[in-house]
Amino acid sequence: MILFRNFYHLLISTTLLTVFLIEYSPGRTAEGLGNFKSYTKIDHGVLVAADNGTIMLEVYSPTVIRVRVTKGEFLKDFSYAVIRNPEGMFTGIQEDGKELRLSTDSLEIFVSEKPVRLHFYNRQHRLLNEDDAGLGFVSEGTQKTSYKHLFPDERFIGLGEKTGPLDRRGQSYVNWNTDHYSYGVEDDPLYASIPFFIGLHDHLTYGIFLDNSYRTNFDFGASSDNRFSSFSVSDGEMNYYFFGDCSVGEIISSYTALTGRIQMPPRWSLGYQQCRWSYYPDAEVLKLAATFREKQIPADVIYLDIHYMDGYKVFTWDLNRFPDPKKMIDSLRAAGFHLVTIIDPGIKVENGYFAHDEGVAGDYFIKYPDGENYIGSVWPGRCHFPDFTNPDVRTWWGKSVSRLVTPGVEGFWNDMNEPAVWGQHIPDIVRLSFDGSPTTIQEAHNVYGMEMARSTFEGARALMSGKRPFVLSRAGYAGIQRYSALWTGDNASTDEHMLLAVRLVNSMGVSGIPFTGPDIGGFSGDPTPELFTRWLSIGAYTPFYRNHKQYGRKRQEPWSFGEETEKLARQCIEQRYRMMPYLYSTFFTAAETGMPVARTLAIVQPFDEHVYWSQYQNEYLFGDNLLVAPVASKESYADVYFPSGGWYRLSDDTYYRGDTSALVRSPLDDLPVFTRAGSVLPFQSVVQNTSQRTSDTLQLHVYFGKEASTFVYYEDDGITYDYQKGISSSREIRFEPSEKRVTLGNVNGSYPLSFHFVKLILHGFKELKTITTGRGSLNVMNLPGHPGVYAVTIENSRSRISIRW
Ligand code: GLC
Repeated sequence: MILFRNFYHLLISTTLLTVFLIEYSPGRTAEGLGNFKSYTKIDHGVLVAADNGTIMLEVYSPTVIRVRVTKGEFLKDFSYAVIRNPEGMFTGIQEDGKELRLSTDSLEIFVSEKPVRLHFYNRQHRLLNEDDAGLGFVSEGTQKTSYKHLFPDERFIGLGEKTGPLDRRGQSYVNWNTDHYSYGVEDDPLYASIPFFIGLHDHLTYGIFLDNSYRTNFDFGASSDNRFSSFSVSDGEMNYYFFGDCSVGEIISSYTALTGRIQMPPRWSLGYQQCRWSYYPDAEVLKLAATFREKQIPADVIYLDIHYMDGYKVFTWDLNRFPDPKKMIDSLRAAGFHLVTIIDPGIKVENGYFAHDEGVAGDYFIKYPDGENYIGSVWPGRCHFPDFTNPDVRTWWGKSVSRLVTPGVEGFWNDMNEPAVWGQHIPDIVRLSFDGSPTTIQEAHNVYGMEMARSTFEGARALMSGKRPFVLSRAGYAGIQRYSALWTGDNASTDEHMLLAVRLVNSMGVSGIPFTGPDIGGFSGDPTPELFTRWLSIGAYTPFYRNHKQYGRKRQEPWSFGEETEKLARQCIEQRYRMMPYLYSTFFTAAETGMPVARTLAIVQPFDEHVYWSQYQNEYLFGDNLLVAPVASKESYADVYFPSGGWYRLSDDTYYRGDTSALVRSPLDDLPVFTRAGSVLPFQSVVQNTSQRTSDTLQLHVYFGKEASTFVYYEDDGITYDYQKGISSSREIRFEPSEKRVTLGNVNGSYPLSFHFVKLILHGFKELKTITTGRGSLNVMNLPGHPGVYAVTIENSRSRISIRW
């Protein structure tokens, strides 16, 4: 026996035998695909029959290939994430007894035959990704795993809301939406599951999106001595999309073409937002609004957390605390505020409560297999939970939102939608309708929150007479960006959390979700004034800018930490409003292309190792032209890495060469933020909220550099969906140093100009005296207090404006 065991150990260490055992042993539970048998053409691809299963390969575009693997029949094809159908076909198919060779205009996919393994190449025949030679695809019970060859220099980015470093190599993760109060900075999983990552090696890029909503696992060389990377599904089908585009940006674009992009959010939702658990009664809310205005601290949004409801029952108002919601909301609106209220999915089990009675009558709740409605406890006590995977329930929920829309609520904060219940575990047998393919919570759990956000968004949009609703969600799955912004849940008031939040936001950006942010200041615990200030300053450069605080903790309004902090807080928030034309245009780019608002440097310089160093991994670009270097609250110097090109410090125009690093000052009143040499930044005058008119002059900062650049400047009404009917305007602003020219291109679209004048503010230009426009020559002035910075104001027009220096 001992002899046998030694012999067995000896042999099992050889890859060959491992393959043999997995591919061929009858009766073993772990089973690979075995050898190739045949292939058949189908509408958009091929079916590959192997000894132990079938692979379906479908062409979505020349760079996007879907891979499905099954041991028996393929399951019903249904996805909450994907909004596209396959569109292409392999342009070449050859089979020679050794391999099946498939090609598109951009990729070659080789299926080796003994045993069956997938190999993805680009058209230059460079290997992007391939199955692990020994393991490949393995199924064991309901679990299926794809093992992939791990390249020596391979890095991984993305996977949505995941803690840990920017480069996920050596880490493993679980996707299971989890209510994780005050999570640790390395904890996993959190609230949202986005099973999409980008692999980088040998100056090559690829992406993989595993579209399976069961609990899934990703392993990037962790605990396997770097033998492989892998992803596995606990049940359902192995179903992934392979992206073979040539850059990180193009992969994000392909991924968001597949799973959708944001629609333009209401402009007010890009302003500063004030939240607390909870502001009540109405007098306190109005006082809060008035204090912002008195103190001249800009803000657009106030939130009501759970205390506005009657006994935490969703779609009700506590009429003692809020006797006349409409009147209060009208007063807020008159002061330039929009109201966002929280909604939770749990419906209190209480006869006579409309949502309960309608839900029971309509059979709208998730249930046990014996037909009894599931009950779990959350804020209101014992609750039923709507089955958001049932279209009738989505419609019903959407209509119920009218109880908030009617008095004037414009934003809907979808919380606890993992779904969270006290005790954390809805029994596995609980059933949902899954849009016509009934299933258990095991498959529906990870999409539950997204479908709640969808119901809210679609309902509110239908009710709001053409206005854009703002929806915020805690849980999400791939595609959540189509309906909602996402915040990073119950973080804590620490420096580590502030910096982690930057990585979470950047990672979600890579993963198709551009409108995200953390609770600024931290949810649990109390920040020091320094931490609060620093966080507000980073927040100004975060897509979603909301201050939020846990019940019972100290006040966290911008004026709660004394006069000095208040002054600094005002400066941070004013900066946010100054940037609004730039930010709004950047959101438009996200809506058009999927390119995130906050962009890890790994998007622009994926093969530059500095980008991943721990001291630099939090740096990011905010839009095309701003480089932000987040720094802990007590650090008065920051070690900053400058990507290629040149960079000017935004606060004082100090110039730094790209591809270098420097120690720069980082006092609390001056976060290290830089702008790209050779870029333009469209800014405006400070306003107290986004509906207030700015001055009539667009401030166009131009930073001299050797490289040409183009910025797409965008405007619409910021309120309605008219932009989808073409009522918007965009123009290209080009900086061309070789021509000594800045050009504001023709305005495309019919939306009227928001600014009648453009003030050019020229940085880094040597000894400038005049510029010329089509209308002649103009003197430039030195900008007072800014040596070497020149300014000149010209009239704006819809037709092309060419400015030469
Ligand atoms: C959850 C949310 C938090 C909210 C609280 C009360 O913890 O994540 O933001 O304040 O519930 O509603």
